[in-house]
Amino acid sequence: MSNNPSRDDVRQASRREFLGSGAATATAAAAVFAGEGLPRVHAAGNDEIRLALIGCGGRGGGAAVNALSVAGAPIKLVAMGDVFKDRIDIVKRSLDSQFKERIDVPDERKFVGFDAFKKAIDCLRPGDIAIFATPPAFRAPHFAYAIEKGVHTFMEKPVSIDGPSTKRIIELAAKADAKKLKVGVGLMCRHCDARRELFSRLRNGEAGELIAFRGYREHNPPHSLELAPGRGDMSELLWQVKRFHSFLWASGGIFSDYYVHHVDEVSWMKDAWPVSAEATGGRHYRGKIDDQNFDSYSVEYTFPDGAKFFYSGRVMPNCRQQFGVFGQGSKGAFTISGSGHSPAKSTIYNGQKMEKDRIAWAAPQPEANPYKREWEHLVAAILADEPYNEAVRGAEASLVTAMGRFAAHTGRLVTYDEMMNCPDDLTAGVDSLTDQSPAPLVADADGRYPTPNPGKFKYEYRGERAAD
Ligand SMILES: NC(=O)c1ccc[n+]([C@@H]2O[C@H](COP(=O)([O-])OP(=O)(O)OC[C@H]3O[C@@H](n4cnc5c(N)ncnc54)[C@H](O)[C@@H]3O)[C@@H](O)[C@H]2O)c1
Repeated sequence: MSNNPSRDDVRQASRREFLGSGAATATAAAAVFAGEGLPRVHAAGNDEIRLALIGCGGRGGGAAVNALSVAGAPIKLVAMGDVFKDRIDIVKRSLDSQFKERIDVPDERKFVGFDAFKKAIDCLRPGDIAIFATPPAFRAPHFAYAIEKGVHTFMEKPVSIDGPSTKRIIELAAKADAKKLKVGVGLMCRHCDARRELFSRLRNGEAGELIAFRGYREHNPPHSLELAPGRGDMSELLWQVKRFHSFLWASGGIFSDYYVHHVDEVSWMKDAWPVSAEATGGRHYRGKIDDQNFDSYSVEYTFPDGAKFFYSGRVMPNCRQQFGVFGQGSKGAFTISGSGHSPAKSTIYNGQKMEKDRIAWAAPQPEANPYKREWEHLVAAILADEPYNEAVRGAEASLVTAMGRFAAHTGRLVTYDEMMNCPDDLTAGVDSLTDQSPAPLVADADGRYPTPNPGKFKYEYRGERAAD
């Protein structure tokens, strides 16, 4: 069977209708409303945009829902890829039940294995979209292939986890630009209307000089630490891929995977990337689940003007739970996002006390879902053929997040430049993994994985360290 699905049942939405829906990027909408004509047609020659979903987990399924929900956009899912067949089937069943006519993924276009991404992208035409929602380790090789095939990308955060992978993404971003490809990165908070208004108010000086920020992601472990599910006959490689938050090579651990949103939100509001980080952290409770993470992290980031960002990450049961980022300006405090990613409930206060009767501005409620907004913006840019590439920004956000992790794991003060140029390449060789490959991380004779020991290693959990 051909990899090309029938287009007959695809609803050909009008670009005029879509771009008039308020979903378009500011420039696309402005051009249309100014009578400068409608955007050029989709590079593939008609209005239909095909999607391939690579990484059919929780977020991959969610991203596909968001893509297929963009009002008036002629999007159709035509291929799916994962290293586990059951994940494809679970997500397909769910999508079928919500978007029956926009799912055209017969068994021939379900691909399983480490090369599934290539086969899924091969089902697309130039100008279609590949979604990457695998563990972050695979981002660069998958992105490279999408660019080679002339396909637009939506890739989940973090897009990189160390210096070498960050450089790869930045180099690839330039190649995507050269081909006029559009690239969305799943830092959806950047697409939140409330946070965007807060950003513009901060630029207008409504909170004064921005001096300090603080953030918290403190919650129960996402899995019971006493529960050590058997691997059955699963290979060590697939086990590490499945439990990617546990392994630095696969994800940068919970630090990179969980905290990148908050680090990015604060850096955005400050309008700068931190230049250095120092941090502490430790492993208190491990239960039966073995991994490479600390269960608490405390980071002090410094911005170029000396302003600070203090971040606390904790994954422990029965402790205070917090999930938000806040700032202190010389005129007043502010909430960037108060509790979870959405709604942000961004607020500016008169003075430093964050009390109701001191509110100077509060984001109007209800707020639009930023996971939907990021897709509306990406699709508008594709339909209007406007420059749109979030890869460099996503890589920089991922790098400064990794800088905090590296500082905690090594016990050193780490600068942005050191992190960018750090040669330890956690994802080296992932582009050639096959089902038969050994796992990138090897456990010891007792089945324990190497863990970061601050002060001991040069690079988190490996490398001989010279005395400072
Ligand atoms: N933007 C957000 O708020 C948000 C929320 C959740 C997750 N995420 C990101 O999405 C990504 C996936 O997270 P998740 O929670 O969906 O995890 P998940 O484990 O539910 O899904 C990952 C999927 O990728 C598959 N996979 C792994 N390696 C693969 C490979 N090489 N090729 C093809 N498929 C592969 C896995 O089998 C799994 O089905 C992570 O980068 C995570 O940080 C972002």
